[in-house]
Amino acid sequence: MISLAILASGNGSNAEAIMNFFEQNPSQGSVALVIASNEQAYVLERAKNHGVKSLCISKKMMNSEPDLLRATLADAKIDVVVLAGYMLLIPRDVVAMFPNKIINIHPALLPKFGGKGMYGGNVHNAVIANKETESGITIHFVNEQYDKGDVIFQAKCEVLEDDDADTLAAKIHTLEHKFYPQIINQVIAQL
Ligand code: GAR
Repeated sequence: MISLAILASGNGSNAEAIMNFFEQNPSQGSVALVIASNEQAYVLERAKNHGVKSLCISKKMMNSEPDLLRATLADAKIDVVVLAGYMLLIPRDVVAMFPNKIINIHPALLPKFGGKGMYGGNVHNAVIANKETESGITIHFVNEQYDKGDVIFQAKCEVLEDDDADTLAAKIHTLEHKFYPQIINQVIAQL
């Protein structure tokens, strides 16, 4: 049985989809821990509603205690880390501890529209400003650089002329909620 930790910074709709999936399909993995990067993140409420242990580790906390994230994941005996709208860079020691066992989802077709500062609405605004006719999601392994690890899966959607950042975000979220839990399940099945 694979023990998953979800790291998130905000609303947590992907975290919700993942917790639902592993509650309904518990054969290979279960969500043991949710870590939010700020106290206000709604994902903490979602974790509580699912009876999943949750806590906050902020950037400030990591700066004053550099080993905190690694030690927390080690203490909880986490096997695989799933980023679901997590806005902080994963520290090197954590990447080293989980080789090809940290998975991220990015709301665009990497390598386009990735890198530092490219998250959430910023990504969709950039896609629209660039007059792209398609966007999508990228699920990839995490290394020490933002959005640069090996790609596991991509899915596309159309960008229509009258799409704005909100309508595009809604299409992307639909793809994310459909595919992210399944792809995580496929990855852990191969461990
Ligand atoms: C998702 O669209 C995810 O792809 C994106 O943040 C959103 C979080 O939504 N992640 C990034 O932009 C990472 N660079 P959620 O909190 O509702 O799951």
